[in-house]
Amino acid sequence: VQWSHVILSPRLRPGDLVVDATAGNGHDTLFLAERVLPGGRVFAFDVLSEAIEQTRARVSNGLTDDGDKEQAAELQDVVLHHAGHERMAELLPSEVCGRLRAVMFNLGYLPGGDKTLITRTDTTLDALQQALDWLAPDGVITIVVYPGHDGGREEATAVECWAARLPSGQFEAQRLGFANFKPSTPFCLAVRKRA
Ligand SMILES: C[S@@+](CC[C@H](N)C(=O)[O-])C[C@H]1O[C@@H](n2cnc3c(N)ncnc32)[C@H](O)[C@@H]1O
Repeated sequence: VQWSHVILSPRLRPGDLVVDATAGNGHDTLFLAERVLPGGRVFAFDVLSEAIEQTRARVSNGLTDDGDKEQAAELQDVVLHHAGHERMAELLPSEVCGRLRAVMFNLGYLPGGDKTLITRTDTTLDALQQALDWLAPDGVITIVVYPGHDGGREEATAVECWAARLPSGQFEAQRLGFANFKPSTPFCLAVRKRA
């Protein structure tokens, strides 16, 4: 179940500014691009060059058909950063601050890639904190969390604690998951900045 897509789909419009904090194979970046272009911008981050290349190819194939020039121009509005999401505040253009409609995190490792190169608790929490600041009023952060892999349980617990401690006057945090699956099953957190 793509909970993050279900949550964000009705909230996104052409012209919106959004971030994919973990580009991976590019599925989420393409999902965002299809909703905010034309007029909007997608900023995507990944530490792996192969993830950035995968994402570039997926978005390019997904957005352009038959060399359509308008669609090709839209590709310029998908900005891929070969960098960790913990550098978000440094690398995003300053005019975007406080205007992000969505920031997506999909934690863990690149499917089909090196399973030892996973998101890390310290940098994940650092990036989540930055995302809160850069979010627009009524903007949403989604975090898909995988407690099942090595190190995943620790990161899942830390991210859940971070969400639980957010001041309820400024943010609302929800958790979506399976009620009848084992505890190591992935779940999704969604944090909305109150307008
Ligand atoms: C589960 S995958 C993401 C899947 C992706 N959203 C998709 O739609 O295909 C997690 C990704 O996070 C990346 N990653 C790990 N640490 C990171 C960091 N500090 N900043 C950004 N990306 C990171 C990994 O390289 C991996 O590609």
